[in-house]
This record gives sequence, C-alpha cells and structure tokens, in this order.
Amino acid sequence: MSVFSEAIDTFLAPIGDLLKDPLVTEIMINGAHEIFVEKKGLIYKVDNFFPNEDSLLSAMRAIAQSVGRVIDNDNPRLDARLPDGSRIHVVLPPMAKNGTTVAIRKFSKEELTLSDLIQFGSLSKTAARFLDICMYLGKNVVVSGGTGSGKTTMLNVLGGRIPKTQRLIIIEDAAELQVHAEHVVNFETRKADPTRGVNEVTIRELVISAMRLRPDRIIVGEVRGEEALDLIQVMNTGHDGSMGTVHANSPVDACTRLETLCLMGETKIPPDAIRKMVASAMQIIVQCSRYHDGGRRTSHISEILGVDASGNYISRDIFRWMQTGKDSETGRYIGEMVPCNYVPSFFEEIIVHKLPFPKSSFVAPEWVQKIKKEAA
Ligand SMILES: Nc1ncnc2c1ncn2[C@@H]1O[C@H](COP(=O)(O)OP(=O)(O)OP(=O)(O)O)[C@@H](O)[C@H]1O
Ligand SMILES: [Mg+2]
Repeated sequence: MSVFSEAIDTFLAPIGDLLKDPLVTEIMINGAHEIFVEKKGLIYKVDNFFPNEDSLLSAMRAIAQSVGRVIDNDNPRLDARLPDGSRIHVVLPPMAKNGTTVAIRKFSKEELTLSDLIQFGSLSKTAARFLDICMYLGKNVVVSGGTGSGKTTMLNVLGGRIPKTQRLIIIEDAAELQVHAEHVVNFETRKADPTRGVNEVTIRELVISAMRLRPDRIIVGEVRGEEALDLIQVMNTGHDGSMGTVHANSPVDACTRLETLCLMGETKIPPDAIRKMVASAMQIIVQCSRYHDGGRRTSHISEILGVDASGNYISRDIFRWMQTGKDSETGRYIGEMVPCNYVPSFFEEIIVHKLPFPKSSFVAPEWVQKIKKEAA
C-alpha cells in the first residue's frame, strides 16, 4: 500500500498543497491546466496545473492501479479512493471535452458532530436535540439532499448518536461513513472485473445478507437502485431506526424517489402497494440543502404520515430553516431553523420515555408568524 501511496503522492505533486490544505474540501480538475477548489462552500480557481495531459493521466492510472482497477480507452470512467480515504471520480477524453476531468472529495479527518452542525448554523440546538431523540427512539430516518449537500456528513453525525447497545450494519458502495459506536459491522460493494473472474456484489445482496446477520439497525450509505425495496422492507419489518440517504430535493420528493427506485427492480408488488410501503417505512426525513451563498444547511426536518385518499404522501414539517436576511458584506444568508407548529405523531413516546423535550419546543416563534402574515 505504501508503495502506491508514494507513487500517487509523486504523481499528484502539482496539487499536493491543495490535498494538504484542510480548508479545501473539494478539488476539481478540468483538464491539465484548469483547476478549481471548494473552500467553505464556495468555488475558486487556483493557479495549480499539471504539466500536460499525459502527466495527469499517469496520475489517474496510478490511482486506479492502487485500488486494483484500470482506467484506459475501454474503461474511461473511474470511481476510487486515495490512500487517505478521499473519494475521486475521473472521466477521460473524448467523453470529457476539457481533457481528463477529475473531482476529489477530500476526506475530512476531523469528524463533525451535532454541535459542529449547530455551530455552522446548519441545525438549531432544539432541532439537534429532536434528532437525537429520534435516534434514541429508533425512528427510521432518511437523509435527503442534492449532490454535495451534506447527506453523508449528516448520516455520519446521526449514526454516532445510536444507542451503544445496538448492533449496526453499514452498507456502502465506497466506504465513507465512520460511525462511532461499539458494535458496528461495515460492508462495501465490489465491482465486477471479468478479466480476473471477479463477480459483482451489490448493495442489494449485502442488504439481504445483513438481514441474516442479526442487525438491530441497517444503514445504507446511499440508496440509488433496486436496494430501495430491500431497505423499505427492512424498515417495515421491525428493524426500526434504520437509515439511508437519497438524492432528492424535498421530503416528499425523497419518498417519490424511493418509490421509483423500488419499482426499478423486477418486483411483482403493484405500484400502489409500494407507495404505501414507502409511506409507512418513512418516519423522519432530514433534508440537506446547499444554498447559493455556499452554506450547507438542514432545510427541513419532516415527518411522513402516510398517503392520503388521492394517493399523495402526507408530509409535515417539524422544523425548517428560514431565511430572514442577507449580510451585505459577506453575501451570507442570515436566518435560523424554526419549529413549524407541528407536534410529531410520536410525541407520546417522548413523554413515556421521560425525555426532556417539552411540547412548547414545536411552537413557532412569534416573529415567524408575523413574517408569514405579512407575506400572505
Ligand atoms: N453543515 C455543513 N456545513 C458546512 N460544510 C458541510 C456541512 N455538511 C457537510 N459539509 C461539507 O460538505 C462537503 C460535502 O458533504 P457530504 O459528502 O456529506 O455531501 P453529500 O450530500 O453526501 O455528497 P454526495 O452527493 O457527493 O454524496 C464535505 O466536504 C463536508 O465536509
Ligand atoms: Mg454522500
């Protein structure tokens, strides 16, 4: 492994400073001579460059080789991880018109916690405490959001709040989650490599295995295929407190997306029934959003209550982020997360478990009501 690390370090020397800079969260290479980075949610062009396409391509070949894969004309796309855990995706020309195109999502060594998210303004203290309670009570929680909106980070933070006594099985395409709990089993999928007689092992298969390995809770890092149906079934069959992330722009979209993914497989279950299964599996949806000011925030925490008579998902916002202004100097949005005057259906459980979370925490502050009246 260290031989590979050294080779990769040498090949990636032109961006060595960016890889080391803890403020850089993403490095985007659009051909040898154009490199951008993301810092604090905003994108900047940097002066770094690779001498030529060949040197950039050699770097990508070395990375592919270190994870036992190939990148060439026949395999022009690569998903891999760098020795430090950073995630990398590569597309070669002629598909990539700019030249070899790469994005590196830096692996953050500092693990974020609920209090970090509060400090960043991504969650309010009350909302964080509420999510903590949801983890404690074993609610099924789906984290929804667009690309790079902070889904994995949120799942990681929430996973760390699962009661220590429980057995957790985590299934991912590329191991990213680092959930700190006492009893964690990690699974990672395998890609097929026909040249070496290696068969594919999918998320779906690993979910089925996980079910036979006495899990208390199952976490699927990213639900993007037929495994949605398996996760829904897991959630509906007593593995309360299971979790996953899904690519969607609102809590209701997240349900619809899961439903579509369920139907992708060759299931004999009729679509209406699938919708009901999704609705009953979903309990809490945490919506992550990336705003135009570069801020990543939790835009909604919602409860899914089922489907109504016309077949629409019933979703109720419990908390949501509300913008109240904009800092004229920094361009940053000003706002806060507010309760939405909705008491979740499981409030009784909060009382029964004697959890310190008064009903008044769900009441929207007066200024919100005022703004709403003005806007109406
Ligand atoms: N609340 C936050 N405030 C600031 N930065 C954050 C926040 N949440 C996540 N980040 C940072 O944003 C980047 C993307 O986060 P993350 O990988 O969690 O997103 P994602 O939605 O899972 O992305 P993808 O769609 O690529 O899987 C990371 O660098 C992470 O450290
Ligand atoms: Mg992710």
